[in-house]
Amino acid sequence: MRGTSADAGPAGVTGAHAEAGDGVSPTEIMAPGRAVLVGDSVVVKTQETTTSRRERIRTQAASLVAEQTGLFVVPKIISFDDAQGQIVFERLPITGLHEILRDRDQGLVMMQRMAEALAATHGRMVISETAPKGWVPLHGDFALTNVLHLPGADRLAIIDWANAEWTGFDGDYGPPELDVAVFLTSLFHRRAFYPRQVASRHEVARHFLATYASRSPHGLDLAALRSIVTGIMPAFIRLTRRLRGPLRALAYRHSMIDLELFLRRLPANNARV
Ligand SMILES: Nc1ncnc2c1ncn2[C@@H]1O[C@H](COP(=O)(O)OP(=O)(O)O)[C@@H](O)[C@H]1O
Ligand SMILES: [Mg+2]
Repeated sequence: MRGTSADAGPAGVTGAHAEAGDGVSPTEIMAPGRAVLVGDSVVVKTQETTTSRRERIRTQAASLVAEQTGLFVVPKIISFDDAQGQIVFERLPITGLHEILRDRDQGLVMMQRMAEALAATHGRMVISETAPKGWVPLHGDFALTNVLHLPGADRLAIIDWANAEWTGFDGDYGPPELDVAVFLTSLFHRRAFYPRQVASRHEVARHFLATYASRSPHGLDLAALRSIVTGIMPAFIRLTRRLRGPLRALAYRHSMIDLELFLRRLPANNARV
C-alpha cells in the first residue's frame, strides 16, 4: 500500500549515502537494512517491509490518540510505500529531554506528562479489532531516545512507534509493563562521562510509576514489571557492550543494578508506588 497526505516528496533529502553536512545524517544505531535519513524538512525511514508497514500503522493509530488527548505530538506521515518499506515523516524540531531532567522540579512535571501520554496510548490506541485480554497496544520502544521535547510549543513529541528489537518482544499488543520497563531502563541508563544526568532519579521514577498506575487502563503490576525488567536486562547489557565496548558496558551494568534495587524497594501495593 502507498499513500501520501500531500504531493510533497522527500525534499531536502539527498540519497542514502549522503555525507553529514548535506543536512542529512544517518542515525547512530542502525540495524542491517535499516536507514533513517534526516533532511531539512523531512525524515525518511527505510526498513524491512513488514516492519515498516507495522510502524506506519502504529504511527497513524498513535496520531489519533495524540489528536484526541492533546497530550503529545506524533510526526505526520507525509507519504509511505509499504512495498518499499519506506515512510516519509515531517521533521519536527525536537530536542532530547536530558537537559530538562537535570532539574528535579522540571523532571517531575515531565514524568507526569510522559506517564499520562503512555497511559493514554495504552488506553486508547487501536491497532487491530481484537486485543488480547489484559494486554495493551504498545509503543514498543518508549525510551528517552524516542520521547522528546518540542521546545517552542512545549509539547512532548513521541517518535519511532516500533518494537525495540533488543527486548525480543514482537507483538503489537503486549503487557503494559513492557513499555514501562523499557522507559525505566532508559531513565536509569547512566552514560559514562556524560555530564547531563537525571536529577533525583528515584523520586522522578516513582512519580512516573504512580502517575502511570493511576491513569492506565489496567493499573500497574509491579511484580510483572520486576520480572520483565529482569528478563530484558541481559539483552540490554549485550546491546550496550556491542555498541559501546566492554568498559562502558560495565558502567551501564551498574545503572541496571540500581534499577533493580529501586524496583525491589517499591512497596508491594501498587496504589502506594
Ligand atoms: N520526525 C522526526 N523529526 C525529527 N527527527 C527525527 C524524526 N524521526 C526521527 N528523527 C531522528 O532520527 C533518529 C532515529 O529515528 P527513529 O525513528 O527513532 O529510528 P530508530 O529506529 O533508528 O531509533 C531519532 O532519534 C531522531 O533524532
Ligand atoms: Mg529511535
